[in-house]
Amino acid sequence: MTTPTIELKPSAHPLSDAEREAILANPGFGRHFTDHMVTIRWTEGRGWHDGQLVPYGPLSLDPATNVLHYAQEIFEGLKAYRQPDGSVATFRPDANARRFQASSRRLAMPELPVETFIEACDVLVQQDKAWVPAHGGEESLYLRPFMIATEVGLGVKPANEYLFMVIASPAGAYFPGGVKPVSIWLSEDRVRAVPGGVGDAKTGGNYAASLLAQAEAAAKGCDQVCYLDAVEHKWVEELGGMNLYFVYGDKIVTPTLTGSLLAGITRDSLLSVARDLGYESEEARVSIDQWQTDSANGTLTEVFACGTAAVITPVGTVKCNAGEWHHSGGEPGEVTVKLREALLDIQRGVSEDKHGWMHNI
Ligand code: PLP
Ligand code: COI
Repeated sequence: MTTPTIELKPSAHPLSDAEREAILANPGFGRHFTDHMVTIRWTEGRGWHDGQLVPYGPLSLDPATNVLHYAQEIFEGLKAYRQPDGSVATFRPDANARRFQASSRRLAMPELPVETFIEACDVLVQQDKAWVPAHGGEESLYLRPFMIATEVGLGVKPANEYLFMVIASPAGAYFPGGVKPVSIWLSEDRVRAVPGGVGDAKTGGNYAASLLAQAEAAAKGCDQVCYLDAVEHKWVEELGGMNLYFVYGDKIVTPTLTGSLLAGITRDSLLSVARDLGYESEEARVSIDQWQTDSANGTLTEVFACGTAAVITPVGTVKCNAGEWHHSGGEPGEVTVKLREALLDIQRGVSEDKHGWMHNI
C-alpha cells in the first residue's frame, strides 16, 4: 500500500483574524469550519494517491456518484486541544485511525494506513492552528475525517474509487445547556442496529437510522434516545452518538460491546481513568429492568453519557412507556464530575498523560 505525501496548497484567502476570533468566541458545535481541508484519493489498482491540503470548499459530485445512492461512507471524530505551553495535541488519534480501518473493512472500503490518517489530521491542524481555541476552557478543535465512495454508476457493489477527507470545526459544548443533565427516552421498539449489522461501524447510515427515534424523543420532551438490543428489546446499548456509563457507588459499569454498539474511545479511556482515580470499572450487560430497579433502590447512584463531541454528560431523567425516573436530583453526580475533570485535564495537558494518549503536533 502506498502512502501519499500530502501536498500543501494553502488558501490565498483565509478568514481574517477578527472573523476567526468572533467565531471562536462562541463556536457552538459543527457550525463553522476552518480554512483548509485534506483530500486523499484511492483508485483500484493504484491505491492511495494525490494527498493534498487545499482551501476548505464544496465538492463537485456527479449525481450518480455511488455514495449518494448506497451510502458507502464512514467517518471519525476526534479533538485537538490547546496545551498550557500554547502547543496543540490530539487525543488518541491512533485509536480513531484503527477504528476507521475497522469501519472500512465492514463497509468493504480500502483501509487507510494508520500513519496516513494521523498525518492527515496533523497537517490540517498544523495549517489551521490559529483555529484551536485557547487553553483552559472546554473548547477544542473537532476533526472530522471521513471517506466516501466516488465511483460513478448505479451498480450495487464496492466502489473502485474513494475520497478520504479531513475537515475541522472549532467546538464548544455539544449540548446547548453545557454540563446540565440531559433527559433520555428509552426506545423500546425502534432499534439502531442489529446483530451482524453495522452498529459497531461509524457509518452515516447508523445516524440516518437514528433520526426518527431522535425526533420522537424530542416530541416526548427528551434530549436523546437510548437504544436497546434488537433481539430482546431489553439490554441497554447506547445513545445515538454516545456510550453510557452506570455508576454504582465506587464502581462504573458500561454495556458490553456486543457488535451492535460503537466501541467509543471515550468509553474505553474511562475504563482506565476510573481505575486511576481509585474506582472500579467494568463492562457488563445492563437491562432496562435493572436500570429502573437499581435507581429505585438507590444502588445506582449516577448515569452519564460519553463521547468525543459530548465529552461526559450527566443523565438526569429517563423516560419510557412505563413512566419516568430521575438521577442525582437533576444535578451532575459527584463521580461523573470527577471523571469528567480527570479526562479533560489529560486532554488539556494539565495532568500527567500516564497512558501516552496525547499526540503532540
Ligand atoms: N456511540 C456512537 C453511536 C457515536 O457516534 C459516538 C461518537 O463518536 C460514540 C458512541 C462515542 O465514541 P467516541 O468516544 O469514540 O467519540
Ligand atoms: C463524536 O462524538 O465524535 C461523534 O461522532 C458523535 C456525533 C453525534 C457528533
